[in-house]
Amino acid sequence: MRVFQCAVMGSGGVGKSAITVRFINGSYLEWYDPTNRKQFNVDNQPCLLEILDTAGIDQYLTLNDMFIRESEGFILVFSLCQRDSFEEVLRTYDAIQRIKLSEGGRIIPIVIVGNKSDLIDEREVDTTEGEKLSLNWNCSYYETSARTSININSVFEDIVRQLRKN
Ligand code: GTP
Ligand code: MG
Repeated sequence: MRVFQCAVMGSGGVGKSAITVRFINGSYLEWYDPTNRKQFNVDNQPCLLEILDTAGIDQYLTLNDMFIRESEGFILVFSLCQRDSFEEVLRTYDAIQRIKLSEGGRIIPIVIVGNKSDLIDEREVDTTEGEKLSLNWNCSYYETSARTSININSVFEDIVRQLRKN
């Protein structure tokens, strides 16, 4: 079975941990299981995905560079209700390009995630903005809610499909 590593990155409070726990445990805001890996099937083939849930607070520290070096794929999360966090995705993307391209110019598996789609009245970033970014970068874009669980599995299936091609 193939084993893949991906990092979940983004500003503080956008829901990186909530998304990870929702995917791994199927629960919301219950952090009882610190395991960050899951075996699951994508297109009828099993895989083991190891997920590095980074802390938003580290975003300006060199620790982030280390996470980028050690990961093969990236889930870049922002909150649909917080424009700042959308801008942060651009900075993280630049850091990934800087570090990964210096390692050799392969296509880097990336999924952009706009989280908290359930908070309809608080939205600050339009769907078209996320879609435009993903077209420019030739990667995928999903709008998720860790609270309702919508599109959470699709994010992780997508990153595995990209990692398999890598
Ligand atoms: P750091 O680890 O501090 O960088 O934050 P994080 O990105 O891991 O965010 P976390 O998962 O801790 O979520 C922060 C808070 O946002 C949670 O306590 C929830 O209240 C809220 N939250 C996360 N995901 C969702 C969501 O999909 N919908 C709504 N309504 N709230 C969410
Ligand atoms: Mg967290």
